[in-house]
Amino acid sequence: MKSTVAEIRERFDNDVERFANLETGQQSTIDATVSLELITEAAKNIVPTATHLLDIGCGAGNYSLKMLSKLPGLHCTLADLSQPMLNKAFERVSVQTTGGVQTHHGDIRELSLPQNGFDIILAGAVLHHLRDDEDWQTTFSKLYSLLKPGGCLMISDLVTQDDQRLDDYIWNEYGNYLESLGGKEYRQKVLDYIAKEDSPRSVTYQLNLMKEVGFSTTEILHKNLCFAAFGGIK
Ligand SMILES: C[S@@+](CC[C@H](N)C(=O)[O-])C[C@H]1O[C@@H](n2cnc3c(N)ncnc32)[C@H](O)[C@@H]1O
Repeated sequence: MKSTVAEIRERFDNDVERFANLETGQQSTIDATVSLELITEAAKNIVPTATHLLDIGCGAGNYSLKMLSKLPGLHCTLADLSQPMLNKAFERVSVQTTGGVQTHHGDIRELSLPQNGFDIILAGAVLHHLRDDEDWQTTFSKLYSLLKPGGCLMISDLVTQDDQRLDDYIWNEYGNYLESLGGKEYRQKVLDYIAKEDSPRSVTYQLNLMKEVGFSTTEILHKNLCFAAFGGIK
């Protein structure tokens, strides 16, 4: 049985400080800082005149802060399941922008925000919490509808491979990577945690879905084993 939304919320409620530091928060994420740099730089290049940013699964606000370092003064909307995460993100983001900062506490599947309201949507390590096809379809449709024409959705996330043999190979390589960081126990702990809490999809699945819901262009920026940075333009 996969974790429920309430269980995921509780885990993140108790992990704010770790996620307020990209280095320690994402230790098990390969190339976390590379992907963060790539998706924010890509967003800046796609919408250099952006005024409104939406950060879904914002955690402690790392992605918004990086975006603000490239496009200062953005109005920021921060959305997360965890109220303690949102409090931390608000505290950190509001001192870094002259724009307004709004928070939305809740599940991204149920986000109620203005249609065509955002130039940039960032989704850092959050979409892998979606579960079945319907979840993915409704969430991608919703995100598309929230973007202004010409706006972009930029994703950095854990991903699978479509071919089972390649998926097994890549996850074994990832296991070896974890083992090199913290030994066999750490490898097992992270893989068990992923098996319980996460249900990632492949880059191909997500890019196809983006096209299906209306995105005009999709692009892969980076992939290293089971982590990737990619996105789409409305
Ligand atoms: C791994 S953290 C990443 C945080 C941040 N994006 C970063 O990379 O530093 C995932 C965040 O997504 C949030 N989250 C998970 N599932 C969610 C959902 N269904 N709706 C909204 N937020 C969710 C968690 O509360 C957590 O803060």
